[in-house]
Amino acid sequence: DIPRYVKIVEVGPRDGLQNEKTIVPMSVKVNLIHKLVSSGLSVVEATSFVSPKWVPQLADAKDVMDAVKNLDGVRLPVLTPNLKGFEAAVAAGAKEVAVFASASESFSKSNINCSIEESFARYRAVTSAAKKLSIPVRGFTSASLSHSVICPLVLLLPQFLGEYSQGYGKQKKVAEASALYLGIGTVLPMLEAVMAVVPVEKLAVHFHDTYGQSLPNILLSLQGCPYAKGASGNVATEDVVYMLNGLGVKTNIDMDKLLSAGEYISQYLGRPSGSKTAVALSRI
Ligand code: HMG
Ligand code: MG
Repeated sequence: DIPRYVKIVEVGPRDGLQNEKTIVPMSVKVNLIHKLVSSGLSVVEATSFVSPKWVPQLADAKDVMDAVKNLDGVRLPVLTPNLKGFEAAVAAGAKEVAVFASASESFSKSNINCSIEESFARYRAVTSAAKKLSIPVRGFTSASLSHSVICPLVLLLPQFLGEYSQGYGKQKKVAEASALYLGIGTVLPMLEAVMAVVPVEKLAVHFHDTYGQSLPNILLSLQGCPYAKGASGNVATEDVVYMLNGLGVKTNIDMDKLLSAGEYISQYLGRPSGSKTAVALSRI
């Protein structure tokens, strides 16, 4: 049983560009976001309000947000690792934020310079400030599955207002459930453990393609999880949409426009697209 519709949360402008060696100019980021939105993507992570010392690639978060905040028909969440980031995001016009925890102490330390426990205290501050402003918060919990997905699998908890005001607590349970499955090379046992603590409609999956296993893992996840999340730099969105089209799953995404967004940023970065679908279709 696979769902009839899948919502893709595009993370290229954030997760993709944060990993680029060169710093992409603000105007290119803004063009990319425009192109992604015009392809029909309804949620595009725009940037992160993080320390520019840690992530210099996204030091222009305020300007990017300012340039895109009034785009219609799209949600533009931004990453906020602490209250300082949350306040800066709101001041810049963000209407949705995401927090990101880890299932392993070492990744927590290297990513946000604190323990898992401390990160939940920070996220509690972010979620309660967000609740006062009726700003939705999503939560990532990163875990590595060895062999198959090494770079993090993430489960998102779209939040959390009202009955989900305890979102950070749920995220903590997700982290614990995920940690149990570190070392197991498939996504299914982890998803089952996580679905025991969080309703499936509240979950999303996010894959990196380090071992080339993200499409099969997305396919497995679809059997229990209604939202899939992917991006170039992670799994290529073009490849995810191509697979979903082949399965007859609706995404509301215009493949030609999506390809043109991918081509735009690949050309800017001066390298061929990482998407097999984009490469194959460009030969036709
Ligand atoms: P820290 O150095 O421990 O922070 O960093 P601190 O509180 O000691 O402050 C140090 C300096 O940073 C101070 O400035 C603060 O004002 C400033 P100074 O006095 O030295 O001039 N600062 C900030 N500046 C801007 N925005 C902020 C902010 N907070 C403090 N929000 C911190 C701790 C969390 C800030 C840092 O470690 C950080 O920014 N980390 C972000 C790392 C990141 O963005 N990683 C990538 C996203 S996660 C990911 O990609 C995985 C994901 O895709 C899922 C998956 O694939 O699994 C989500
Ligand atoms: Mg990621």
